Amino acid sequence: MRVAGDLATIAPSARAAGRVTLPGDKSISHRYAMLAAIADGTSVIHGYSSGADCAATLECIRALGADVRRSGDDVVVTGRGAHGLREPAGSLDAANSGTTMRLMSGILAAQPFRSRFTGDTSLQRRPMRRIIDPLQQMGATIDSAAGFPPLIIHGAPLKGIAFTPAAASAQIKSCVLLAGLYADGTTLVVEPVPTRDHTERALAIFGVRVTTSDGRVGVSGGQALHACELHVPGDISGAAFWGALAAGTPGGNITIDHVGLNPSRTDLLALLQRAGALVTRERVTAGPGEPAGTVVIRHGAMNSFEILPGEVAGVIDEIPALAALAAMMPPGCTFTVRGAAELRVKESDRISALATGMRALGATVDEFEDGFTLQSAPMHGATVHSLGDHRLAMAFAVAATRASAPVTIVGASAVDVSYPGFFETLEQLTSAAAPE
Ligand code: S3P
Repeated sequence: MRVAGDLATIAPSARAAGRVTLPGDKSISHRYAMLAAIADGTSVIHGYSSGADCAATLECIRALGADVRRSGDDVVVTGRGAHGLREPAGSLDAANSGTTMRLMSGILAAQPFRSRFTGDTSLQRRPMRRIIDPLQQMGATIDSAAGFPPLIIHGAPLKGIAFTPAAASAQIKSCVLLAGLYADGTTLVVEPVPTRDHTERALAIFGVRVTTSDGRVGVSGGQALHACELHVPGDISGAAFWGALAAGTPGGNITIDHVGLNPSRTDLLALLQRAGALVTRERVTAGPGEPAGTVVIRHGAMNSFEILPGEVAGVIDEIPALAALAAMMPPGCTFTVRGAAELRVKESDRISALATGMRALGATVDEFEDGFTLQSAPMHGATVHSLGDHRLAMAFAVAATRASAPVTIVGASAVDVSYPGFFETLEQLTSAAAPE
């Protein structure tokens, strides 16, 4: 393997074995940092994600007046209390991070000042109407370029609403709940399809009462948040790539330590099993906060598999990794995803970019408006493009290990968004074991 600047060249490999620890979970890190910023007192977050997305969140809360000290994966945040955030001196920059922008906007909508919120070129193409609408219903005013960033958020006193998001999205739910912390009365989010519940769990750790029943999540305004000590487990969305690598390589056997096992995120493991992999969990701890444990994934008798529309929300971030696994399967296996139009508005249009990249490697891909069918075929050398999307760079790198000749990934440095060190770990897992 050679990684130089923004290019990575992956050599064919017959091995996928070893033990891995992951960066901290991206979704959970964002939430702990944001809530720490509006809590009273000093919170300590252990295992904070090393990725650029979560660094963007720290820069935003710093710009709003929180004191943030970082030492490796430990982050110490002294909050400003619910009403102590300061008007930022310049624009807030969410960089590549949709979660930063969508969740923070819920907090900013309630502040007695105006914020300008921007991001990189990818984020500027991502739809924000989905959060602008509920926040405006609650009482804020938000200017945007036709629903895309930059956003100008004019904070205002908010009132509680009952809101049913049009898309199954934890980001929309979380944005509305965070605004609900400041609203007069109760704010309710009604979820037709359940999405990851990290916000609900995080709020509870900070001492906020959250009600959940029958797909309805409620929070009443005016509750204080208390600083606390928090532990972020490893990112299961990063683990998905090692799951694909182990499952897609004959003899593959990878152990992943301290990975987050929140039930709203573990559908990935069931899908790996559905595709034929052998998956075991060990030493699972229930929390407090977020469950975690060790997961072992082994190659099995791999077979065609699909994700049904109702299952998409549970594995929305893992579809690129599962596409890599499908491409590594014996020729003729298929992997179908439907009901996944949301993939078109992620860090890239993941349906189109996955189809292009996987075809370049040799797979056959039928693209639909809301998904794709990938059929595996022998993979060969090629140049593929991540389009600056971290999960595509990692998916192509994993698939490339089973190609017959080296594969070059353009835009490889995008992995730093969620997984700095990804290529070093790939190298360790795939290079021949050192002689005893
Ligand atoms: C996230 C939710 C998902 C996911 C994103 C992180 C979160 O987005 O794709 O990477 O932390 O809430 P949606 O909820 O908008 O699908």
